Amino acid sequence: MGPYSQLAENLVGSEIVRLGNIIADRVRNGESIFNFTIGDFNPRLFPIPEGLKTAIEQAYEEGYTNYPSADGILPLREAVSSFVQKHYHVDYAPNEIQIASGGRPLIYSVFRSLVDPGDRVVYAVPSWNNNHYTFMNGGEHSVVETTAETAFMPTAGTLQPHLKGATLLCLCTPQNPTGTTLGRTELEAICDLVLAENARRPEGAKKLHVLFDQMYGVLTYGDTVHYNPVEVRPEMKDYTVFIDGISKCFAATGVRVGWALGPAPLIAKIKALLTHIGAWAPMAEQVATARYLVQEAAVESYLDCLKTGLHERLQQMYDGIQQLKSKGHPVDAIHPQGGLYLTAKFDLSGRSADGPQSQAAVTDYLLNEAKLAVTPFYAFGASRNDPWYRISVGTCDLKTLPQMFSQLEAALEKLR
Ligand SMILES: Cc1ncc(COP(=O)(O)O)c(C=O)c1O
Repeated sequence: MGPYSQLAENLVGSEIVRLGNIIADRVRNGESIFNFTIGDFNPRLFPIPEGLKTAIEQAYEEGYTNYPSADGILPLREAVSSFVQKHYHVDYAPNEIQIASGGRPLIYSVFRSLVDPGDRVVYAVPSWNNNHYTFMNGGEHSVVETTAETAFMPTAGTLQPHLKGATLLCLCTPQNPTGTTLGRTELEAICDLVLAENARRPEGAKKLHVLFDQMYGVLTYGDTVHYNPVEVRPEMKDYTVFIDGISKCFAATGVRVGWALGPAPLIAKIKALLTHIGAWAPMAEQVATARYLVQEAAVESYLDCLKTGLHERLQQMYDGIQQLKSKGHPVDAIHPQGGLYLTAKFDLSGRSADGPQSQAAVTDYLLNEAKLAVTPFYAFGASRNDPWYRISVGTCDLKTLPQMFSQLEAALEKLR
């Protein structure tokens, strides 16, 4: 059979999903594994808001089972408009908002609407799926390697050499996979580069746009504040497309409601494209999300509870790793700032003659010896020998952490 299209033949599946499936198979076969690989929630630990759940049931009861409008039902776009004004201090009218079935179809549509084959797409690694979207659109990859010194975030300095002539700059904060964020000053400096680059381009030339993925935007902890380009530089509104939705901020990954915010003419193109793709959010979920998002007190109390639960897990994970580090083990972690993720280092390769001798072997060693499943940064485009990992805490049962750390410590001791 085949060959099929160049795209189908060359598409690389998600490494994260592949690793997740391997672990799921082992769990099905009876193995007990601490699985922190998938950027999702255990619904028993983190259910969706009760008010959203009942609103979905009610919407089906009321017969909302037909096609939604192509850009998303108006009450939902109005509710999103109020939500982003309150949480992100930006003004978006309903015709600057597009609804779809989660963030993915919107990211795909943004790429499709902006990037022609050969156009340059700038993104940092490690990062989530920018490599795949760039490939699917025939874009030229302009990759910025990041390091622990900047908490694996790009900076104005590292991005600058890549922006001349580029079509799209992908930013994500709080970032998947690192759980770290872009501070205000850095974001301002990046926006200034984008504005300067666009000012240089001749009238009528394609502009440099920013795909600003804030899927985890309300999930920040401690002193960390989430900033966005339009808030810090209002002129950025012409060149920014936000990706956002309920998947992570309301633990609703399977409910499938996302939104993009952007300049009205670009949103109109995305709407037209999605008409053919058909990746609308289901009608009843749109009605329910519209009704839920405007219940400000319920939303606030849900977000407080979700953030407290996630922060507690991230902090305990961080403290546990720091404790192992203080005992002389070659591990480390970056203080959690946002999202569901902790960035942790397991620099175990070549530590003992019969221990793991490559980073892929370290990943297997952690899984086999400590029953700890975490996602290597090389699954997010970083180099194959990068010792850093993503630990996702949405599935973490706090009660199991002492056992997990004791197994991890025993596995580390073996390499002394
Ligand atoms: C940074 C980021 N953006 C977008 C998405 C896509 O979200 P959705 O599940 O709504 O398609 C994800 C999902 O993991 C993500 O981590």
